[in-house]
Amino acid sequence: MRWLTPSRVLPSLLLSAPLAIAAITISLQDAGSFKSAAQAAAASSVTMYNNRDSKLIPGKFDGTWWEGGALFTFLINYWHWTGDDQYNDLVIQGMSWQGGPNHDFFTSNYSSYLGNDDQEFWALGAMTAAEQRFPEDPTPGSASWLELAQGAFNDFAGRWDVDKASCNGGLRWQLYPILGGYDAKNAVSNGAFFQLAARLYRYTNNESYANWAETVWDWSVESVLFDNKTWYINDMTHISQNCQDKSNMQWSYNYGSYVAGAAYMYNKTDGGAKWKESVDGLLNSIWTIFFPEQYGGNILSEAACDPIMTCDRDQLCFKGLMANWLSTIALLVPDQAATITTKLKYSAVAAGKQCSGPENDCGMQWFSSSWDGSKGIEQEMSALSIFANSLVAFGPDGASYTPPSIPGPVTAETGGNSSSNPSGGTQSSGEYQPPKQAAITAGDRAGAGILTLVFSGCWIAMIAWLLTGDFY
Ligand SMILES: *[C@@H]1O[C@H](CO)[C@@H](O)[C@H](O)[C@H]1NC(C)=O
Ligand SMILES: *[C@@H]1O[C@H](CO)[C@@H](O)[C@H](O)[C@H]1NC(C)=O
Ligand SMILES: *[C@@H]1O[C@H](CO)[C@@H](O)[C@H](O)[C@H]1NC(C)=O
Ligand SMILES: *[C@@H]1O[C@H](CO)[C@@H](O)[C@H](O)[C@H]1NC(C)=O
Ligand SMILES: *[C@@H]1O[C@H](CO)[C@@H](O)[C@H](O)[C@H]1NC(C)=O
Repeated sequence: MRWLTPSRVLPSLLLSAPLAIAAITISLQDAGSFKSAAQAAAASSVTMYNNRDSKLIPGKFDGTWWEGGALFTFLINYWHWTGDDQYNDLVIQGMSWQGGPNHDFFTSNYSSYLGNDDQEFWALGAMTAAEQRFPEDPTPGSASWLELAQGAFNDFAGRWDVDKASCNGGLRWQLYPILGGYDAKNAVSNGAFFQLAARLYRYTNNESYANWAETVWDWSVESVLFDNKTWYINDMTHISQNCQDKSNMQWSYNYGSYVAGAAYMYNKTDGGAKWKESVDGLLNSIWTIFFPEQYGGNILSEAACDPIMTCDRDQLCFKGLMANWLSTIALLVPDQAATITTKLKYSAVAAGKQCSGPENDCGMQWFSSSWDGSKGIEQEMSALSIFANSLVAFGPDGASYTPPSIPGPVTAETGGNSSSNPSGGTQSSGEYQPPKQAAITAGDRAGAGILTLVFSGCWIAMIAWLLTGDFY
């Protein structure tokens, strides 16, 4: 994901006072009102997606690549919870196209510039498709959803750092020395790999995935990234500092990546004590940090940037990712369901009030009952996710549910039939294509290479990048 601080990518702010526009009204007891809200946010997300400049490339957003994986995850959730299949073909097309010829979400267009986290969010989206029994791509020769997730998994496993001198394990953020984040080990790259391994384990029952999940977890809790006594997660540490430094920015996707993975492990191990302690500990941190008491304690906020309106495009998606994970945890860890569904429902009602811009555009500050003046596809996507994923709080008859009346994510033993290919993603040489200098200076591909560009004095390229504003 991006490297720079957010100043360049502030959401478009309208200077005039917001017009009084009706919000999206949701009532707590009425499942139908959640569905209508999800329908409206899905429609506006897809309209914005369809109007992008890069619309000839299925799944590719303008100026960012990973967000396609997030949008499709939320649209799969939308179909799962509402039954509305009108966007399924668009999702299938975009996911398969970006899965690429090697079936691992690592195509040559972008692979030189990616962080592990970028690729991971697509892989988690494919896993969601398998677990929610989303229709497979009917095109002959296309990969199954499970195979795409396995293909990406094999890439991550191959990148695990075995060099003792590089902090004795962990995934780096970026893949190549030329990229600024190569020196970093960050929480989300490792947390999302852990989660993917845990989900593959639960779906396939293959112990190799369990071993990987344990390996990533154990490395994480031994590192400065993750304190398993306070359940506090730091954002990043650096190999050049022997992984003793830490940037302690608090981002919800770091917590969400780990806690959802722990919930899958809990569920798969029939209530394993280590995983229960971890789910409960991390959820408590999430409640404290991302559901601030000052807004009543039940409204999700990306606390480091929502209140001061500095969230960049990536960060605007994090509330949506969190809603998706919490809804899944409610099913996997039934004794947390009551707490989770309360917070999801209240957050959805609040987000509805924030969707009161022109044409019901949604802002980012769900805790505020009047539109904050920001809008964009990321705000719509996060609203879509909270509306759709809150439907976990209702049974099929629309009444509030008591767990476990709703089936959880399926596995190969409980109705999941996405076909498995444990050696997926390894058809090609397996060697990464090193980034090409010439391509990087093209400005629209620079992404995380920005630091290197600064160091090598490519000021012109940097300015071009700042102007075109593309990043991954
Ligand atoms: C890669 O870029 C080419 C040229 O723009 C485009 O036609 C193709 O669809 C892209 N592939 C992917 C997977 O984005
Ligand atoms: C917490 O971390 C320590 C190592 O730092 C480890 O021995 C212990 O098993 C961990 N507990 C959990 C629940 O992860
Ligand atoms: C695992 O998830 C299923 C599906 O939601 C649920 O029925 C079951 O009770 C969960 N297992 C545990 C140990 O909580
Ligand atoms: C999986 O099950 C669905 C629904 O029963 C069916 O339509 C689909 O063809 C099956 N897919 C495979 C790969 O067997
Ligand atoms: C289990 O997963 C591992 C690692 O991906 C793979 O090598 C192995 O073939 C898988 N085993 C089975 C029985 O699918």
